Amino acid sequence: MEDLYGRTIDYLRVSITDRCNLRCRYCMPQEISWMQEDALLSLEEIAAVCREAAALGIRKIKLTGGEPLLRKGCARLVGMLKQIPGIEQVTLTTNGILLAAEAEALCRQGLDAVNVSLDTLDAARYHEITGFDKLPDVLAGIEAMLAVSIPVKINAVLQAGDESGWRELIALARERPLSVRFIEMMPIGHGKEFEVVSNEAVLQQLRQMEPGLKKEPRKLGNGPAVYYMLPGYAGRVGMISAMHGKFCAGCNRIRLTAAGELKPCLCYGASVSIREAVKSGDRGKVRQRIAWAIEKKPQGHAFDCREKITETREMARIGG
Ligand code: 5AD
Ligand code: SF4
Repeated sequence: MEDLYGRTIDYLRVSITDRCNLRCRYCMPQEISWMQEDALLSLEEIAAVCREAAALGIRKIKLTGGEPLLRKGCARLVGMLKQIPGIEQVTLTTNGILLAAEAEALCRQGLDAVNVSLDTLDAARYHEITGFDKLPDVLAGIEAMLAVSIPVKINAVLQAGDESGWRELIALARERPLSVRFIEMMPIGHGKEFEVVSNEAVLQQLRQMEPGLKKEPRKLGNGPAVYYMLPGYAGRVGMISAMHGKFCAGCNRIRLTAAGELKPCLCYGASVSIREAVKSGDRGKVRQRIAWAIEKKPQGHAFDCREKITETREMARIGG
């Protein structure tokens, strides 16, 4: 379906739990109160929402969290969504810790690709950022995905002080056939407390390091990433410049929060609950609410103007 600005909205991000087995400082509060299990939509209800979304033109679904693999039946949900007519792609954004254990099930259920959130390859820094020593599990998860031929993208959010850490992450794209993407920190949730590392600065240094770097001429993937090819690299490097390269003109997405609210835009608090409609089996109302979320999409975010950012929910509830 098209929104009021002529953008085709064909991508739905679905947060299936607010729980996480990490405590990344820019994402999770220190005092955590998880949602009650029964406040989440059931897997069947999530699939029902996605079925109506597909009827309105949604073609790609991303499961997010918190950490989606903590939700029992996550792989089964992938299979359920893959069977919906019109849905062309089901992908997952995960911190990677449970990926190795779930790789076969995810592959069997037809998962199309995975995004692994990983901000550093330095074990001590990983502990500082996430609060846990889980780097080896994440690396094993990435290898497990490559072993079953599921495409992998690494998502890294850099913090001031990590300026040299990105070089190690990029080395991963040299050795392995995966994309390493840098996402500029957005002022949502605890992200507000951090300074943004500009992707432009990273790119400038990358150009010096690898003068043969070339911009990928094709548009790859569902989103706003701009990709670069580097000579001799097995994979690619991508830039998601949420702050310095406003990409709202090409926005293609809406979001479903863990609590069952549809969100037109990451930046604003506006949302509509789909819970009652889906629980009562009112398909018409579910569809109406999805159409509302698409129609209410604003022209763009206002991340550069703090007073205009009305979203106050944690990133872990929204799903990034
Ligand atoms: N800005 C940018 N990215 C963020 N993420 C979480 N919080 C923020 C933020 N404030 C990222 C995580 C993960 C994805 C789901 O969203 O690092 O990769
Ligand atoms: Fe968990 Fe992802 Fe948030 Fe880190 S960024 S705490 S992995 S949900």
